[in-house]
Amino acid sequence: MQTTEETYIQSLFAERIGGKVFGKEQKIYKFELIKRAKRAALAAHPGVELIDFGVGEPDEMAFPGVVQELQREAEKSENRGYADNGIQEFKDAAARYMQKVYGVGGINSESEVLHGIGSKSILAMVPAIFINPGDITLMTVPGYPIIGTHTRWYGGDVVRLPLREENGFLPDIDALPADVKKRAKLLYINYPNNPTGTGATKAFFERVVKFAKENSILVVHDAAYAALTYGAKPLSFLSVDGAKNVGVEIHSLSKAFNMTGWRLAFMVGNERVVAGYGNVKDNYDSGQFKAIQKAGVYALDHPEVTDEIAAKYERRLRAMVSVLAGMGFNAKMPAGSFYLYVKMPKGIKGGRRFAHAGEFSEFLITEKLISTVPWDDAGPFIRFSATFESKSREDEQRVLNEFKKRMSILQFVF
Ligand SMILES: Cc1ncc(COP(=O)(O)O)c(C=O)c1O
Repeated sequence: MQTTEETYIQSLFAERIGGKVFGKEQKIYKFELIKRAKRAALAAHPGVELIDFGVGEPDEMAFPGVVQELQREAEKSENRGYADNGIQEFKDAAARYMQKVYGVGGINSESEVLHGIGSKSILAMVPAIFINPGDITLMTVPGYPIIGTHTRWYGGDVVRLPLREENGFLPDIDALPADVKKRAKLLYINYPNNPTGTGATKAFFERVVKFAKENSILVVHDAAYAALTYGAKPLSFLSVDGAKNVGVEIHSLSKAFNMTGWRLAFMVGNERVVAGYGNVKDNYDSGQFKAIQKAGVYALDHPEVTDEIAAKYERRLRAMVSVLAGMGFNAKMPAGSFYLYVKMPKGIKGGRRFAHAGEFSEFLITEKLISTVPWDDAGPFIRFSATFESKSREDEQRVLNEFKKRMSILQFVF
């Protein structure tokens, strides 16, 4: 029996999170389904190791120099209070980092940089700066959904730009209808891309700047994986002529420095946008702990840490590509990120067929105890992440061998 209070509290929930049926809907979300399938597979095969390619965060902790800096700074009384819109040392370090890693000079660290408690929270605030009811956010799919969720919460609309293999996983912005371009205020892009692993080119960014100018749209480039590249050098949207006039870039220390839990990121670029973000942010949080920002300064001044991290992912990704390509998957080394995105096979030779990526992913967990993330937004694909756990370099090889062994028994039909 529900108490009166439980009944009326249930009736108070806002429509944006489900209204009266909040928490009672039948719909189960993808990541919950994966979690359940994992639990069921482990229960059905006690003692068998689950190979987890489903994780979207680094498998190792931050580097010792960064941790030691936090230890030192955490002890100082001067770091105890509210950080508000951030300490200048961190903003200066961010500007230095943009120059050193991306060759982007001339950033005014007072007016063109502002920290955030992770890029998730920056992305969540961007619609508050720009979206009025009826405005449009253009965003690539599949992808990180946060800016779209908040656009809707402010009464805006989301127009999805599918990332298709035939377009090299770049959005076809020029094909958008005139009325959509007219109502659009924000364009969200993310390269290297989660989940496709695609890297942007300078030519693509130039097209984006032109499109933004022609249609008076603000570009938000999510650079969460920008420093993790294989082959080509890291590329910033802001390195393209005119980009700072039409956009901002959001950098995160989460993936490039193994600092996901530390919650530290920054927005850099157009001064007016940074000012708008500062205004909204001031009404949401009081800044990241100053000692964490100071450890962040240390990290940003040591980008060679990222090179070490990238070398490890590259090694793992090459091995994963080799296993999958050897079985007929169209697996190619990604340009960046730690993701490998491959098209789902039609089925198993002489056996079952897969209707969508969710089904294939569930099959891999249930039958092979291999966890992946399925995406069905623009064709059926599954994502393997190179952040699987291993105890050592030898153990990493053992996990990869085990992956190969479990997959080799299967004969896929494409
Ligand atoms: C594309 C993308 N953007 C942003 C984030 C959020 O990162 P942060 O830890 O900086 O909030 C993620 C995390 O997975 C991501 O994949």
